[in-house]
Amino acid sequence: MAPSSFFFHSTFFMKIKAPFFMKKRKRTRNRAFSSIKREAARRKDSSKKEKNEVLEVWVTHYSSLQKFLLVGEGDFSFALSLAKGFGSGLNITATSLDPEGRVMKKYKKGKTNLQQLKKLGATIFHRIDATSMSNHKDLSNEKFDRIIYNFPHAGFRGPEHSMRVIRKHQKLISGFFDESSKLLLPNGEVHITNKTTGSYAKWDIEKLALKSSLKVIECIQFDKNAYEGYDNKRGDGWMRNNSFPVSECSTYKFKKMLDLYNSDDDNSSE
Ligand SMILES: C[S@@+](CC[C@H](N)C(=O)[O-])C[C@H]1O[C@@H](n2cnc3c(N)ncnc32)[C@H](O)[C@@H]1O
Repeated sequence: MAPSSFFFHSTFFMKIKAPFFMKKRKRTRNRAFSSIKREAARRKDSSKKEKNEVLEVWVTHYSSLQKFLLVGEGDFSFALSLAKGFGSGLNITATSLDPEGRVMKKYKKGKTNLQQLKKLGATIFHRIDATSMSNHKDLSNEKFDRIIYNFPHAGFRGPEHSMRVIRKHQKLISGFFDESSKLLLPNGEVHITNKTTGSYAKWDIEKLALKSSLKVIECIQFDKNAYEGYDNKRGDGWMRNNSFPVSECSTYKFKKMLDLYNSDDDNSSE
């Protein structure tokens, strides 16, 4: 074989070893490629994580990640205020004792509030009695992180300071506590917002809760202005669409005693 054709013979060409400086350049290039690949993978991974992360929004002490049951709504403005604040009503089930038609007739903004709530994805049930709600076909298989009843009231059936009327309100609240404790998720809370002075102080809410094995964990000043658009309603009598002053009132937070006992246990074993 002539030397020129020998040099261009393919097998010889393949076997020929690359000189040292060429190998080094190849190694550097490979390293650069793998660091680019690593960076691309890292970016892909973090953008995936960002997509999966759900944004948590807080409205006062309520989180958009909690599951809510609102009981005894008036014109549904409290439910709407939360849903608007969260940017979604998907985690909210809002209920009234009144049938839908009555909510729309009774309250000036009843109809529009319900329409907006539905648009935001909230679940709405009517004819839900707080004292038997766990048996309701749409609630019996559900559990919630927060069950909220603002200004529970059994209606205007005489002077508010009479013991007969006070007992009516107490019966409503006791029934609500009993039923709520059946619908709570582990570590869930029942919240009641109520006035704290005058005849309201005689309702003994904390004592009533104990009968349903619920214990008060916090009692905080209620700030109506923190809930944009919320219009607390009297809900009964000829002034049912009217609001009432909420100067001295608090939100009582209750938890199942069993949950408190278990969390004590967890802490002691730490
Ligand atoms: C003072 S209003 C408060 C309404 C509303 N929570 C608010 O803050 O605007 C009392 C509400 O309790 C409701 N209610 C009375 N008895 C009830 C019961 N057994 N179950 C559920 N709601 C009840 C009334 O329909 C009324 O809407």
